[in-house]
Amino acid sequence: MDNTIKEKTILNKSISILGCGWLGLPFGEFMLGKGYVVKGSTTTLSKLDTLQQKGIQPFLFIANKKEPDDSALLRDFLKSDILFLNIPFRRSLENPSDYLDEIVQLLPSIEKSPIKRLIFASSTSVYPNDGKTWHESDAIIPETIRSKVLLQVEQTLLNNAHFDTTIIRFAGLYGPKRPSGQFLAGRKEIARGKAPVNLIHLDDCIHILDQLLNHSHEDDIFNAVSDGHPLRKEYYTKRAIKMGLPVPLFSNEDNRKNIGKIVSNNKIKTACDYSFIQNPSSEP
Ligand SMILES: NC(=O)c1ccc[n+]([C@@H]2O[C@H](COP(=O)([O-])OP(=O)(O)OC[C@H]3O[C@@H](n4cnc5c(N)ncnc54)[C@H](OP(=O)(O)O)[C@@H]3O)[C@@H](O)[C@H]2O)c1
Repeated sequence: MDNTIKEKTILNKSISILGCGWLGLPFGEFMLGKGYVVKGSTTTLSKLDTLQQKGIQPFLFIANKKEPDDSALLRDFLKSDILFLNIPFRRSLENPSDYLDEIVQLLPSIEKSPIKRLIFASSTSVYPNDGKTWHESDAIIPETIRSKVLLQVEQTLLNNAHFDTTIIRFAGLYGPKRPSGQFLAGRKEIARGKAPVNLIHLDDCIHILDQLLNHSHEDDIFNAVSDGHPLRKEYYTKRAIKMGLPVPLFSNEDNRKNIGKIVSNNKIKTACDYSFIQNPSSEP
């Protein structure tokens, strides 16, 4: 393919980002920079102007768990090639299964839309804290109700024949406006001090999303977690000191309760020939 045609193909592409928050908004800006037409949603009226000013077509939208949303607004929002489904699994939900309901109620509209590729922001919290190194192909026996619901959401999307789905299981998100030193600073009686951290920086989230869109890895699951896994106590104490914040205090647990997990990033590295930009182990 000659370069002119290639460039035109890229410029004709469009992506809708359902949830332009901490990750979705900078990802939207990145995609604008690549020549995509970008639509973005927020639940906050005052953020519509911010999206507009950045060049993202703004939509005020709140997913509801009760009935399918067939509004003109959602239909317009979904007139794109790609959907990044990026609604957070809020701890404030009355019942964790409300999250599955919110996603299911979107499906009829997505199915009727031109969306052919869906990327879902999942979480490495689906893996139990049992001391193992976890890979995408491992069978998971969910440890919590939240993990069970999140796996159900993933499976529901993967099973839908109307679009190709890529699941990205993000580790703990950190970066600008969300420095990792703030996560546990000043807290007391914190569990699992000797467990390894599983984190990912915003820069890597954005570049991994981009890489996955450049490759055709449909109906597949990828972990997105940085290389370094320092121990929680060591790492969060160092980060809090670095920021001049009160150090976190960890409980003296027995080793059985201290185990945690390591989430493997081999698959994304191999599939996309990806090298991580940031590493929690080598932060100054
Ligand atoms: N935080 C972590 O460490 C972590 C770890 C693994 C995976 N994840 C996942 O990564 C994704 C991005 O996280 P984030 O930290 O960027 O989230 P965030 O900053 O909370 O942004 C979430 C976005 O979704 C919108 N939203 C919230 N509830 C909604 C609803 N009911 N209907 C429609 N839109 C809704 C928010 O609207 P407003 O613009 O009005 O706020 C915001 O734009 C989420 O799916 C999260 O579950 C997060």
